[in-house]
Order: sequence, then structure tokens, then C-alpha cells
Amino acid sequence: MRLLCIFVPMIDNIKAHLKDVAAFSANTADEVAQFRIDYLGKKGHITKLFADFRNVPNEQKKEYGQLLNQLKSEAQEKVKKLQAALGGTQSSKSAIDDVTRPGQPIPLGARHPISIVRDRVIDVFSRIGYGLSSGPEVEDDWHNFTALNLPEHHPARDMQDTFFVQTDPDVMLRTHTSSVQVRHMESNQPPIRILSPGRVFRNEAISARSHCVFHQVEGLYINKDVSFADLKQTLMYFTKAIFGTAEIRLRPSYFPFTEPSAEVDIYWGLETEADYRITKGTGWLEIMGCGMVDPNVLTNCGIDADTYSGFAFGMGLERMAMLLYQIEDIRMFYENDVRFLKQFSSSI
Ligand code: DAH
Repeated sequence: MRLLCIFVPMIDNIKAHLKDVAAFSANTADEVAQFRIDYLGKKGHITKLFADFRNVPNEQKKEYGQLLNQLKSEAQEKVKKLQAALGGTQSSKSAIDDVTRPGQPIPLGARHPISIVRDRVIDVFSRIGYGLSSGPEVEDDWHNFTALNLPEHHPARDMQDTFFVQTDPDVMLRTHTSSVQVRHMESNQPPIRILSPGRVFRNEAISARSHCVFHQVEGLYINKDVSFADLKQTLMYFTKAIFGTAEIRLRPSYFPFTEPSAEVDIYWGLETEADYRITKGTGWLEIMGCGMVDPNVLTNCGIDADTYSGFAFGMGLERMAMLLYQIEDIRMFYENDVRFLKQFSSSI
């Protein structure tokens, strides 16, 4: 009977803990953590009560064991409930703790092929000192035409089917990035070495070969004693870097803003059937227009044409991307079909 008296308080002790556990509430995750340590930790109440189990007389072991198991599961339940109520700390913590858990795949996008080619062109020219210059897409007649030696009624204006804005003949979407040359020269004096990538617009029927919105890069170099040989050397450096060949030919051509003017062809080769198709059996491909800046243009932009000379060139980025990636239809660039775009996840 005396022995029994000793162990009754132990059972009461568990019952008191059960009451405490039931009544416990917490406002912070720290309080829950402390509660868990107090009850379920290595040196917590429950561990101690389990250690005492062997001192309990046989006839009490059953009740003691049951109550202790009840206390343990109620304490565990309490911790879970409080953690969930305080923002699921337990579940997110255990997810992070499991370092063997397989990672979630992160879907990566790809850069657009036009951006890739544009950045390559910028990179190649920046190595020889070219900076960037930009202008507006909505232009006025002066910057898009007149200053570039294309006065009103000049027949070459018809070559560039222009989108006018609100039927005002003085406001238009720029038909080429040559307009940026004018803006740059108007507010800067030589030496000038700039590249102007940008979007241009022409009122053309959309087909596999042409689009009404496309991209160009304009280049301009103005200094003392700039010659056509400097232009040719610059172009060879460029085609070597982008197309891997410096074998180019300059075909005499006409642009109102350059004199003399030329079209630049690179030797593409005739190795495959596709080479025959895209070079029309000649092995040569036209990639851009260029020339020595017409002195009239320099004068129009406030640069002394007796002291300075320079060259300009302009190329279409879609055309370059089509050649570099063997893309046969220009419309692919604007459809945003992910199956097309994701092929460019590694740049050229
Ligand atoms: N602006 C011309 C076009 O859109 C391209 C061009 C040709 C630009 C010759 C130039 C150049 O700077 O010298 O077709």
C-alpha cells in the first residue's frame, strides 16, 4: 500500500501534464519550439517519464504506460497543430531539411534570335571603338529623308514605302535607321564612331522574304582623312567576325546619302544544295549597303565637309539571322512560337 502511495503522484503527474498540454497555446513559432523541447526533447518531460517507467510497480505499469503514450501523442499533435496555425513552419522546414529531395526544374527562356544577332554585331563593333546611338521610331521628314539628301519629290523616296502618321506628310514611322546618323551628327562633332540598331517600318506586303516591321543596324564613322579603304577594311573585319570569311566584294550601287555607294556581298560558297538556292547559284550573298557619306549630308547636319569625311553602312538583322540560322521564312521571327524560339537557348 505504501508503494502504491509513492506511484499515485507519478500518475497524477502525467495527468497534470496532460492538462497543461491541452491548455497550452502559443503566439510565436519560438514558443512552440520551446514547448516541443520541454515535452518531446531528449531531456524533456516525456523522456524522463519513460525512464521512470521501470520503477513503476507491475500492477500500475499498464495505466502509467497508457497515460504516458497518450501524453506523448497529445504533445506531438499539439506541436503540429500550433505550427500549422502559425504558418506551416514545420512542413516548409522539413522540406528544406531534406537535401536529397529532387530539385524542381526551372523552365528557362531563350533569347530571341534577332537580339542574339544584334548583340553580336554590337560586340564586334564595340571592340573597334564604336558606341551606341538611338533615335525615335516616329520620325519627321527632315531626319528620315531630307537631311539624307532625299529632298521632296526625289524618286528614291518611292523605294521606301512609308507609313505616315495621321496623314501628316511630315510625320512617319522611320523607314531606316539612317535617320539616327542625322540626329547624332546634329548634336555631336567628329570623331564620330557609332552603331544604331533599331526597328524600322515599311508599307510592304508580308511574305516569306519581307515584312512591314524589321530591324536594321546603321554604322557611321566620321573623321579627318577617312577613305574608302578604311570602309573596306572595317567591313572585312566585320564579316570575318560574324560570317567567318573576309572574302567580300563591293558592288557599285546607289544610295542618295552616300557617294560612292556600294552593296556588300560575302562569298558564301556553293557546297550544298541550300547554298545554290540562297545564292541563286552564284555563291555570293548580299548582306548590306554602304558608302562614303555624301558631303551634302555632312553639311545638312552641321559638319564641315571640307575638313571631315566618313563612311556609313546599313544592314538588315532579319536577313543576317536568316543566313546564320538557315531560317527560310522571315515571319517566324514575329510569330513567337515557343517551339521555334526555344531552339535558340544556346547562342551562336
Ligand atoms: N538605309 C539603307 C536602307 O534602308 C541602308 C543603307 C545603305 C544605309 C547604305 C547606309 C548606307 O548607311 O551607306 O536600305
